[in-house]
Amino acid sequence: MTIRIISTVLALLALAAGLAFANAYPEAPIVFDKPVRGVLFSHKTHMEKGLSCEMCHNRLFEMQAKKAQQNSDFVMESLYQGKYCGACHNGTLAFASNTRCATCHIGVKGEERLKNGGKPEKKGH
Ligand code: HEC
Ligand code: HEC
Ligand code: HEC
Repeated sequence: MTIRIISTVLALLALAAGLAFANAYPEAPIVFDKPVRGVLFSHKTHMEKGLSCEMCHNRLFEMQAKKAQQNSDFVMESLYQGKYCGACHNGTLAFASNTRCATCHIGVKGEERLKNGGKPEKKGH
């Protein structure tokens, strides 16, 4: 009897761990460095806006950091056409890709600040 309860509890714990893993997103921001360095993407801030994984995976992005930047069309022009980040950053769902450059482009200094545990740079290039 006790053994059965314990094994049921263990099975439930394993299931919960599995579900948690399925929804785990990287805590640390991803900073793109191609074609230009210092472009910030944070899962944390995006998930806090109530977005679901499916909104970005797999239609817009693969679940692999720095995969999109291997594509030659990972450039502003594509964003303006509604691809990649531009699917949302179009001025309707989120601030438009042709505004607030420095919010995404934290630059090399911003990246260094992130690595040092500081806040991303708000201004600058
Ligand atoms: C607003 C868009 C967006 C949402 C929502 C989102 N992701 Fe991502 N995710 C990205 C981007 C962008 C990348 C980097 C892809 C690239 O570089 O090509 C990424 C990468 C990843 C990676 C790879 C990390 C690594 O180090 O290789 C994992 C794992 C991941 N996402 C899991 C999730 C999970 C789980 C959720 C839901 C809880 C989620 N993501 C929601 C945009 C998003
Ligand atoms: C599924 C929709 C969606 C996609 C795709 C998306 N974003 Fe966002 N993003 C949002 C929303 C919603 C906000 C918050 C609303 C606002 O600020 O206009 C936001 C806010 C941000 C912010 C400000 C908050 C912060 O994290 O500092 C940055 C920077 C940002 N996005 C960068 C990116 C980049 C870079 C990409 C592509 C790699 C991307 N986003 C893709 C929806 C999206
Ligand atoms: C929503 C986030 C976001 C905003 C806002 C944004 N960018 Fe970008 N930018 C990106 C991403 C993503 C890339 C491609 C990844 C990389 O170069 O690291 C990129 C790449 C670039 C590039 C190199 C590729 C190309 O298109 O020539 C330039 C230059 C650039 N951005 C300039 C700007 C300027 C100027 C603004 C403001 C008018 C701006 N960006 C606003 C996300 C953004």
